[in-house]
Amino acid sequence: MTALLEVSALNKHFGGLHAVKNLSFSVEPGEIVGVLGPNGAGKTTLYNLLTGFIAPDPGASIAFEGRSLLGLAPHRIAGLGISRTFQLCRPFIGMTVLENVIVGALGSKRGRGADLDARAQALLGRVGLAGKAQVPVEVLSYGDQRRLEIARALAAKPALLLLDEPFAGLGSGEIADLSALIRQVHVDEGLTVILIEHKLREFMRLVGRVIALDFGEVIAQGSPEDIVRHPAVIEAYIGRGDAGDPEARHVA
Ligand SMILES: Nc1ncnc2c1ncn2[C@@H]1O[C@H](COP(=O)(O)OP(=O)(O)OP(=O)(O)O)[C@@H](O)[C@H]1O
Ligand SMILES: [Mg+2]
Repeated sequence: MTALLEVSALNKHFGGLHAVKNLSFSVEPGEIVGVLGPNGAGKTTLYNLLTGFIAPDPGASIAFEGRSLLGLAPHRIAGLGISRTFQLCRPFIGMTVLENVIVGALGSKRGRGADLDARAQALLGRVGLAGKAQVPVEVLSYGDQRRLEIARALAAKPALLLLDEPFAGLGSGEIADLSALIRQVHVDEGLTVILIEHKLREFMRLVGRVIALDFGEVIAQGSPEDIVRHPAVIEAYIGRGDAGDPEARHVA
């Protein structure tokens, strides 16, 4: 079986900083893969590389469904079926909640179609925002904005969804709801997911496999159970005074 995503020899320097170091991994269709690592480990940079927001150093290969993504602009990559959410929400200000989802759909050929309005409305229902479709996006609470991010990403009908800390800033009830939603779209739509998250409890329940990064490098890979016990992961989170967040330290 061809991997859905195949990455090899991925490197990124920002001046003297080697933010992503020789990463190679693949993701099979239908997986939920977790990417774990302390602040500054290179997780968001990895997403920026996969989605064409920044270009990797020479020598890398990134293939999605067997096709190289190198040199493609972000909208082309989205059009091929990779959607992402952002660590900081980026709604389109001045539009309603529904319009934000429609714009998400229009961003990709796969998302366009005659039933756009109805589909956008249905997606809002799915993420618990049905009643807020006509509300200006500015008035949404932070938790609702995070939900909208997911509806917007799903509107493009991705085959691969990249989530960047979707639980950040949410309370435990909201995290449980969002987690259930991710699991549900994963099952219903056969969506493959890569999840970056510091909230370890929900993260570990959701993902089937973890890639742990530190200083841009893979320090461990394996099942969630193995990863939380892995000496290099414990070291990365608790061995340094400045790394990770308190919950991560607590769980590790
Ligand atoms: N555009 C950029 N220019 C220069 N340096 C950058 C740029 N983007 C990221 N970096 C640096 O690269 C390193 C990795 O950053 P990245 O945002 O990928 O970390 P992260 O693992 O997502 O961290 P966090 O958990 O805090 O979100 C950091 O040292 C960061 O300061
Ligand atoms: Mg980040």
